[in-house]
Amino acid sequence: MTSAPYVATLKDSTAVFKEDIFKGKILFCTGGGSGICKGMTEAMMRHGADAVIVGRKLDRLTQTANELSATTGRICIAAQADVRQPRMLKEAVEKTIAQFGKIDFVICGAAGNFLAPISGLSENAFKTVMEIDTLGTYNTIKATIAHVRRSKGSYIHVSATLHYKATPYQAHVSSAKAAVDALSAVLAVEEGPHGVRSNVIAPGPIGSTEGMQRLSSIAEGGVSRLPLGRVGDIQDVANATVFLFSEAASYITGQTVVVDGAMEHMRDFQLPYPQAVLDPGSVQKMIPGKL
Ligand SMILES: NC(=O)c1ccc[n+]([C@@H]2O[C@H](COP(=O)([O-])OP(=O)(O)OC[C@H]3O[C@@H](n4cnc5c(N)ncnc54)[C@H](OP(=O)(O)O)[C@@H]3O)[C@@H](O)[C@H]2O)c1
Repeated sequence: MTSAPYVATLKDSTAVFKEDIFKGKILFCTGGGSGICKGMTEAMMRHGADAVIVGRKLDRLTQTANELSATTGRICIAAQADVRQPRMLKEAVEKTIAQFGKIDFVICGAAGNFLAPISGLSENAFKTVMEIDTLGTYNTIKATIAHVRRSKGSYIHVSATLHYKATPYQAHVSSAKAAVDALSAVLAVEEGPHGVRSNVIAPGPIGSTEGMQRLSSIAEGGVSRLPLGRVGDIQDVANATVFLFSEAASYITGQTVVVDGAMEHMRDFQLPYPQAVLDPGSVQKMIPGKL
């Protein structure tokens, strides 16, 4: 007799961790205006942190900051900056210090992505993703490290699992995220003696994000093939964030926490293979560009 497949429960972190564990703490989050990083920020605020979210589009940032302040009762402010521009990041950090006087936690989450084979990827497109994901992470670390040292705080870098195996059409993001993983590990070793921790969260495909919604129409097999019976949710990444920034993780640094319900071990390429490689035109309508 076969039993019904298990489906992992999805709980808010406040059902597990105390609501005031980050009271008086300040989070600086790049990419916090939308998607996964917005969810990570909201979770930190639900546990008492105030936050600064960073991105290029001020309208959306301001709207998100107001929404997060209203839903959590904490303060969230918007700081407009392109992470490729150290001067803009410096100004965002200055705005944070003027408002809150310190930075305890940093999430390096700003990123760009689109699908393209190496043969169709321009030098400029490759460079842009490297600049946003990798150089942007480096710039964010440089702009914040003095403050994070002072507070003996902690970093979380948002990476991916794409580069654990070769993922066609994702050479640019795979390269950029591999470098982010390396940066985080070196940061952990260099800054550990200063009391600073650095970890990576590597989400698998997260449903309800714009990127995954574009890909979901081509994913085959359905959720019944997934080890935990469902795709990942932004809340899953948010919960891992709360744990890694909490004092319960005070001996965890230089690590990567993969939040994918073991999907990595089951992974197939999501586009038809090898047709997608032999005839990129056949999948063109499935992969609209985006940065
Ligand atoms: N979605 C998934 O399934 C998935 C899976 C694995 C990993 N991830 C990672 O999770 C993170 C969030 O992804 P998401 O899917 O939630 O995407 P998203 O909603 O598009 O978030 C990306 C954020 O980065 C900001 N950003 C982009 N370029 C920037 C720049 N040059 N300077 C400053 N901010 C910039 C964007 O804001 P502006 O446009 O306003 O600048 C946006 O708020 C990324 O690091 C991504 O690689 C996502």
